[in-house]
Amino acid sequence: KIPIIIDTDPGIDDAAAIGLAFHRDELDVKLITTVAGNVDITNITANALKLVSFFDQDVPVARGMETPLLKPYEGSCVHGETGMDGYDFPEPTQEIIKLHAVEAIRSLLEESEEKITIVPIGPLTNIAVLLLMYPHVKHKIERIVLMGGSLSGGNMNGPAEFNMWADPHAAKIVLESDVEVVMIGLDVTLKALIGEKELAQCQNKSAEMFNAIFHHYRDGDMDHGVVMHDSCAIAYLTKPELFTIERRHIQVITEGPASGMTMEKFEEETTNMNVAVGIDSEAFQVWFLETLHRMK
Ligand code: BDR
Ligand code: CA
Repeated sequence: KIPIIIDTDPGIDDAAAIGLAFHRDELDVKLITTVAGNVDITNITANALKLVSFFDQDVPVARGMETPLLKPYEGSCVHGETGMDGYDFPEPTQEIIKLHAVEAIRSLLEESEEKITIVPIGPLTNIAVLLLMYPHVKHKIERIVLMGGSLSGGNMNGPAEFNMWADPHAAKIVLESDVEVVMIGLDVTLKALIGEKELAQCQNKSAEMFNAIFHHYRDGDMDHGVVMHDSCAIAYLTKPELFTIERRHIQVITEGPASGMTMEKFEEETTNMNVAVGIDSEAFQVWFLETLHRMK
């Protein structure tokens, strides 16, 4: 099994990604860390706890950074007020652990005998702070498989994707660290859609919950399907053959009107990461439903 840490801001598509990760035999979710992003850190952390309880998991949750490194916190407008509106989750049975997210990741990495993959599906603030404060743990990180960025235009200001836009300075630190990065960006995630007719193929409580919260995502277009950005990072870990991956050199713009834009550097013959440039959308839906069928 691949040991992973999910760093997240649930978030409607984060909720799906977390549920899927819990139900893939290839993965062992060791820790969930929260970061301010789609909504504020209090709602985000409450949502992460609700998801762990909903899926009957015993995975520790640690609360992380409540603001980006330099810019002021600004949430996303497409995840509703609480980030997971529309479903009445039972009271969580678990509380957050005492350690801050950054300390929880450090301690897990230090104590682990095997390398661990970090899967950030929100802004990169926690991961940047970790790499700055504790560079000695880098060699315990197998790689960072992140949802974020784009080579083909953004979903915030024109060119920037939300997770990069929300904390571009953190993104720069992560992208320029010497840790292996796989970037799963909008180029593929916008083609990973799940809607009413897909969810209707599955009659369990999880499908019901997803159906309820997905209706609150952006314009809630459940006929066309809503975008499963974060689930693509989980899909990539368990079935990389769903994606076309290319080696590229990507940098992130931190200032000005294009801040958060991930830009390709062509002038040098160097590369710094693997980037997902293609996805088999139908096979993704099959993978999603097959995993959903395993849930309660
Ligand atoms: C990313 O931004 C968030 O709104 C989603 O959860 C996803 O992580 C997509 O741009
Ligand atoms: Ca997210």
